[in-house]
Amino acid sequence: MSQPAVLGTGLLLLIIVGTAVVVVFLQLRPILRGLYPPFVPKPHPAETPPEQPTGEQLNQLRIDLATPNDERGLVHRVSRNVHAPLVDDKKRSQPLTDVDPKLVRLVSAYLLCAAIWLVLGTLVGWYVGVKFVRPDIDHIAWLSFGRLRPVHTNAVFWGWTSLAMLGLGNFVVPRTGSTPLYSYQIGWLTLWLINIATVLGSVCLMAGINNGGGEYREYIWPVMLLFAVGMILTFYNFFQTIAHRKAPEIYISNWYIVGASGWVIIMSVIAYLPFYQNGLGETIIQGYYMHQGVGMWFMTFTLGLVYYFLPLSLNKPIYSYSLGALAFWTQLLFYTLIGTHHYVFSPIAWWLQTVSIVFSIGMFIPVLAGTINFAMTFRGSGKQVGDSYSLPFLLIGVVFYFTGSVQGSLQAFRTTNLVWHFTDFNVAHAHITMYGIVAFMLWGCIYTLLPKLTGREPQSLLVGVHFWFALLGLMAYVVALMVGGTFKGLSWMAAQPFIDSVVLMAPYWLWRAIGGTLMLLSHLVFAYNLVDMLRPPRTYRSAGSPAQPTFSPQPTEIHEHIA
Ligand code: HEM
Ligand code: HEM
Repeated sequence: MSQPAVLGTGLLLLIIVGTAVVVVFLQLRPILRGLYPPFVPKPHPAETPPEQPTGEQLNQLRIDLATPNDERGLVHRVSRNVHAPLVDDKKRSQPLTDVDPKLVRLVSAYLLCAAIWLVLGTLVGWYVGVKFVRPDIDHIAWLSFGRLRPVHTNAVFWGWTSLAMLGLGNFVVPRTGSTPLYSYQIGWLTLWLINIATVLGSVCLMAGINNGGGEYREYIWPVMLLFAVGMILTFYNFFQTIAHRKAPEIYISNWYIVGASGWVIIMSVIAYLPFYQNGLGETIIQGYYMHQGVGMWFMTFTLGLVYYFLPLSLNKPIYSYSLGALAFWTQLLFYTLIGTHHYVFSPIAWWLQTVSIVFSIGMFIPVLAGTINFAMTFRGSGKQVGDSYSLPFLLIGVVFYFTGSVQGSLQAFRTTNLVWHFTDFNVAHAHITMYGIVAFMLWGCIYTLLPKLTGREPQSLLVGVHFWFALLGLMAYVVALMVGGTFKGLSWMAAQPFIDSVVLMAPYWLWRAIGGTLMLLSHLVFAYNLVDMLRPPRTYRSAGSPAQPTFSPQPTEIHEHIA
């Protein structure tokens, strides 16, 4: 094991153990200091009110206390600090009572399918990660690295991320226009089309049937056509819903959502055009497609969702509508021209590479505008973040939105790209962004919305497990690959034998597998939480009384601004 690898692994351990110690310390501090007040059970409005003792019972209690026969110390040895849970109680959300049940079913179906693809896609990613540690684990062609890798990327792209975004979009677009969704049939048809495309695409890839082209467009064209048809229909559905809106303005979320839904159609069609499948032209289109995919589809759509769900969770308006509009238009200006930064030092025209680098730096403008907007919306809401189980996800998403995007801009420089290109550093960047930004933001939106739709809260402890496993797993994953990827690049530049860089990476790949295991576990917990939120509201029976629903319908708490 080389010296730098040992240092890197030690650093990782320090970060993870350090974070764990800080978290446990923060939770235990009040217990250690005895700061908690005596336990007073908090009556929960949403649950059955405690039965009032009868006068006779009260009298009996007074008699018992006056003459205690307390052999087991139930009264005298009572602890005053029992209300010191490791997991704080989170604030419950107010259910929305004016949502069409048809919409609730549609959104729930999208999110359920998305969660299934998240688990399946991650399972494949995890297995692919394990192969870096145990390359001889199997000798089955269908499970070979080259086939499973695109199964993983496409499943998490189209199955998880796209379906989760569209499910949430089907709620946000009609809601912000105060109008029903234009067509539920289109919503269901698109769900089927994308699911069928992802199943067929995955099976074809495992069978060795693929496009033979670049990354993220490995599905053969008939399969991708199903996705494109679904997206064309959805674009039409969103467009018509907005056209029939009752609200005077088009809320900022819809600019992002409809924009992204249009761009994903354009980029998919262009990437599959037959005359773009050869030579350097194909390479340029591949760069365009890849970065349009992550930037103008996943990122743009998700930002649109955050512009709705962040104010909703904080119950206050977004800091600045204008900053949102500035970020939208500059995103469109800069993002569309940066694709070639994937091929710095390639035979593509030098000037085009320079344009892509300059525009990658230009991305600071929309990223800063978006980050400032979200950060200022968060400002002064520390307590709310602590009280909520969805806001921490959104906060992490915003932090990674800034750091992951700045990292991308830095990767585009010729000097840095020389070291990092072709190394695992890019895989780390891909997960910081698609996972740290997009997945975390989507989880935040889902945990905000579903309890409001179904009246069913997830268990705080399990949301906490999801959050921490995902975050720590991601940190282990990306820090390992960033450190390892840098050493790998330096070893190539020092013209050391290639096998040295493979040996050098071994501990980092092990750490990726450990981080990936935590991430996979967190997704299983998320899937459980999601199913828990989708079940009918809890009911309580007390002797002699009929079953009561958990919540009594409340007027909507959506802020006037965004309802
Ligand atoms: C300011 C914004 C960003 C810039 C300037 C940027 C820049 C870059 C660069 C230069 C690379 C390629 C490095 C190389 O191949 O040598 C890259 C790769 C990648 N980026 Fe970004 N990035 C940005 C934001 C994002 C976001 C928001 C996402 C996802 C939502 C993302 C996802 C990816 C992925 C998946 C790859 C790997 C592509 C591959 O497979 O080769 N990036 N990025
Ligand atoms: C929502 C969850 C996830 C998303 C969106 C995601 C996304 C991606 C993307 C975009 C890439 C391509 C990277 C590139 O070419 O630069 C990738 C590759 C990969 N992912 Fe994930 N991923 C997720 C979860 C996981 C997990 C939990 C693991 C577990 C170890 C994992 C393991 C891998 C591996 C091993 C590769 C191939 C890396 C290589 O070729 O060197 N992914 N993933």
